[in-house]
Amino acid sequence: MAKDDNGGADNTAADSSSVARVEQSTGTSVVTRSAVGNPGFPPHRSRVTDLDPKADRNAERTVYTLFYLSIAGSIFAIAAYMAFPIVPEDMGSVRLNNLFIGVGLTLALFGLGIGAVHWAKALMYAHEGIDERHPVRGTDVVRARAVEIFQQANEESGFGRRTLIRNSLFGALIAFPLPAVVLFRGLGPQDQDPVALLKTTLWEKGTRLTMDPTGVPIKASDVTLGSSFHVIPEGLIDLGHESKLAEKAKSAVLLMRLKPEDLIETAERASWSYDGIVAYSKICTHVGCPVALYEQQTHHLLCPCHQSQFDVTNQCEVIFGPAKRALPQLPIAVDAEGYLIAQSDFTEPVGPSFWERS
Ligand code: FES
Repeated sequence: MAKDDNGGADNTAADSSSVARVEQSTGTSVVTRSAVGNPGFPPHRSRVTDLDPKADRNAERTVYTLFYLSIAGSIFAIAAYMAFPIVPEDMGSVRLNNLFIGVGLTLALFGLGIGAVHWAKALMYAHEGIDERHPVRGTDVVRARAVEIFQQANEESGFGRRTLIRNSLFGALIAFPLPAVVLFRGLGPQDQDPVALLKTTLWEKGTRLTMDPTGVPIKASDVTLGSSFHVIPEGLIDLGHESKLAEKAKSAVLLMRLKPEDLIETAERASWSYDGIVAYSKICTHVGCPVALYEQQTHHLLCPCHQSQFDVTNQCEVIFGPAKRALPQLPIAVDAEGYLIAQSDFTEPVGPSFWERS
């Protein structure tokens, strides 16, 4: 049987010996004695680029064109960064900046990725091979030598003998990460209780629910069965840029309408919805990404960051993923003009569950 450079067996020369078992060392064998024999590869099929030189040249042209496209995309992204700077307080400039940089980077990655895949599939040497598994356990000689080296290193360094040095080293290694804990603490609010901060949002009794980003108030009659709205509190769009972002990060809400009979509500929350319309915090309780995907048929909300899923019919309990806490519900009602309003602020902190532990 022919072998490739790495010791793999060449399929083109596969014969009955390719199914012969390799002797495994005791304790490390991954092939049982009753294992099914290797059936080998199916017959080799040549690609069109193997048979037709013209197709080969076309494939080559496609690959380098894709790589050139990638280069153009990268240059475009840099040019877009300079041509469309972000102007403070101007969301239009942010959109343009993100859009054109995104287009450039997309082209750059797309060209690279597809070009590499096409190169591998159409042009690189089409050759199947088998790499036999080999025992991972070293020989007794190698193992004995490893122990010898370890003992020699211990002896020469004095690691086992000089206990003061060894123990102080352990102490230093344990103490080393501690500054990071202090520094990370400095990223949080210094003089305010984070629980109170996250529990206090712009929502209060009578605040109208308005559409994000226009700030147009929402009437209950606008919310049709099966629809969902991205919602911000009334007045948010009038804030300055900085405080608008900070407040929006806490008070963004998702609004959905289900059939009232589909909702499972505890007695305490029975009055928090209005005719099947429910509102939940949009901030994921895992690490705070926006939970922006609503699956209308199953009534599930999905957080795209780490795939946490929340069941809207059951008070947004977590049904999948790393989140550990249901999305906080915003109690809502309707005012005299038919607009949806909040009954109060959230009754628990929004966002990651970490804060809940304080
Ligand atoms: S932030 Fe939502 S699942 Fe991680």
